[in-house]
Amino acid sequence: MEPRSTLKVFSGNANKPLAQKIADELKMPLGKISAGKFSDGECSILLDESVRGQDVFLIQPTGTKPNEDIIELLLLVDAFRRGSAKAVYVVAPYYAYCRQDRLVGRSPISAKTIANLIQKAGADYFIAADLHSESIVGFFDIPVDNLSALPIFSDYFKEKKLNNIVVVSPDVGGVKRARRFASRLDAPIAIIDKQRPRPNESEVVNVVGDVSGKTCIMVDDIVDTGGSLCNAAKLLKAKGAKAVYAACTHAVLSGDALKKIAESEIEELAVSDSIPLRNGSSPKIKQLSLAPVLAQAIKTIYDGQSISEVLQK
Ligand code: R5P
Repeated sequence: MEPRSTLKVFSGNANKPLAQKIADELKMPLGKISAGKFSDGECSILLDESVRGQDVFLIQPTGTKPNEDIIELLLLVDAFRRGSAKAVYVVAPYYAYCRQDRLVGRSPISAKTIANLIQKAGADYFIAADLHSESIVGFFDIPVDNLSALPIFSDYFKEKKLNNIVVVSPDVGGVKRARRFASRLDAPIAIIDKQRPRPNESEVVNVVGDVSGKTCIMVDDIVDTGGSLCNAAKLLKAKGAKAVYAACTHAVLSGDALKKIAESEIEELAVSDSIPLRNGSSPKIKQLSLAPVLAQAIKTIYDGQSISEVLQK
């Protein structure tokens, strides 16, 4: 009989606090690697322990410095492969370049290109959370588990005991997500009609659904510039909403997003720790950890058990 492999968890530089929390949940140390930089800025990678015959889980979401995080991820996967790991599981709860996921004019399909690179480097399995679109799962020819922060967010908002809730999708593309979240909160949904005249700019046009006198909770996969949420919150208030909250899994929060949110009509924005809050935080931001769900997924996959319960969205 083949000897049972050992589970090892490693982290690149993308989100060490999350990786440490996952390791703590699993009650094991993080594997030893040296991931630094050459003087010209290239990533320099060295494994400081053997991975021969082991099941290696690499925690490397790609949202802190997307380009560097991706290169580091690819080089780490390559090092694990060349070090004769039995299997390499990439745990990237935030998947950078997810937003260009279909042809628009002469665009690339960036989400597919990144998937190709990860597979080509030698990953056997990919674990993400709240992928921008379900179709990204199909860009990989290896198994993909798309976990979700929605159960964590719904537990958080249930504890607040808010009354007369309506879950709001900030755009038409997010309606399925909003429906899933609303069913957890036993609430109806409303939809914002949003347009993007240019990348990173959003215009909210109208609200479909009744928000007057209600407590709105907007739910989205990503908050980047904060434009979509802040503009939508303004519109919801103008339509008579009593209060506006938001929950977004991936806190990209680029540029002056934190300031925009601080000055907006949003009471509170709940985010996960798939991306560290690199520009600091604000009293309006509540960060909830994905570590327990990721650790449970790792344990379940390693034990060869069914992951459906962990995937419940
Ligand atoms: C877009 O379709 C995404 O789901 C988010 O709505 C978007 O990335 C948010 O971007 P921003 O915060 O820059 O408006």
